[in-house]
Amino acid sequence: MTDINGLDLISPRAYTERGIPHEQWSELRRLDRLHFCEPPGYDSFYPVVRHKHICEISKQPDFFLNRYGIVLETSEQKLILESNQGIGQMRVIIAMDPPEHREFRKVAVPAFTPRGVKRFDPVVNESARNLVDSLVERASGGEGECEFATEIATAHPLRVLSTILGVPQELEPQILRLTNELFGADDPDLQREAEDRLKAVQELGMEFFQLFSGIIEDRRANPRDDLASLLANGRVNGELMGPMETLGYYLITFSAGHDTTKNALAGGICALAQNPGEFEKLKRNPELIPSAVEEIVRWTSPVNYMKRVPSTT
Ligand code: HEM
Repeated sequence: MTDINGLDLISPRAYTERGIPHEQWSELRRLDRLHFCEPPGYDSFYPVVRHKHICEISKQPDFFLNRYGIVLETSEQKLILESNQGIGQMRVIIAMDPPEHREFRKVAVPAFTPRGVKRFDPVVNESARNLVDSLVERASGGEGECEFATEIATAHPLRVLSTILGVPQELEPQILRLTNELFGADDPDLQREAEDRLKAVQELGMEFFQLFSGIIEDRRANPRDDLASLLANGRVNGELMGPMETLGYYLITFSAGHDTTKNALAGGICALAQNPGEFEKLKRNPELIPSAVEEIVRWTSPVNYMKRVPSTT
């Protein structure tokens, strides 16, 4: 019988100290029932680790709810969120349930159809080209080194998302810092400096609010044919979205779009560096790149879990 208490599956600190818990996941997959976890400092939960079970849950959004949030929080983080201050006030689509979720989702759908996504190509290509050109220039056309995680994996999605969300280039360092502070709230290297954690959340919310409010106002006054204008002018049931919903949409699109792709890029290049044979194969056969992209997302799994809470009604 397993003694998995769940901490190693969800705690960022445990990942740093003990690495990715592959053995525990394998053990959980071998079980023919759900295993109950009671990690110290967190709410109890059942890890659902098989693909078919996750699909089954995803198909029942009326029963498995998002509204309690998508991550397991520590007791301290829960108290901060329940205080409903700062970032906690923004309403994000990922934490909504039907029928509300369906209505809010419609706002961004035109930008994320296959044809809509294709329209991002020029931005993506230009950013990639500029980044690679700057490396070549630095190496004076010869060979050189770069810190891939920051110079490419962080910079490229940052430039793409900033462009499509209307964030001016000079504000990119600020939005990068804010995103790091949001995702690294309990990481001493990244977390926002403040008197205490509640204050940090309040100030972080305020700074995001100020940054995105300017863009939203501009796109309402001068709408363009871009994602920023689509979100700024989004209507739900015929009404313009409220400020907390509009800000929440910007926040989730920026942060969900940046953190995931950054980690897939960095993790992907790391895996290729560790498997030079595969790297060579890819360089010799660029037609393999589309399937390599799928495999990199699978291999790196940038989102390693989503919380769902079963409805009691
Ligand atoms: C490797 C890249 C990515 C991965 C692995 C990833 C993964 C995910 C996952 C697992 C979810 C939750 C689905 C659920 O609740 O069942 C999600 C939702 C979401 N993602 Fe991504 N994502 C990626 C890239 C992006 C990008 C580039 C954007 C924006 C430009 C984005 C925006 C969103 C939004 C807005 C949601 C909420 C959707 C909703 O609730 O309907 N993601 N993503």
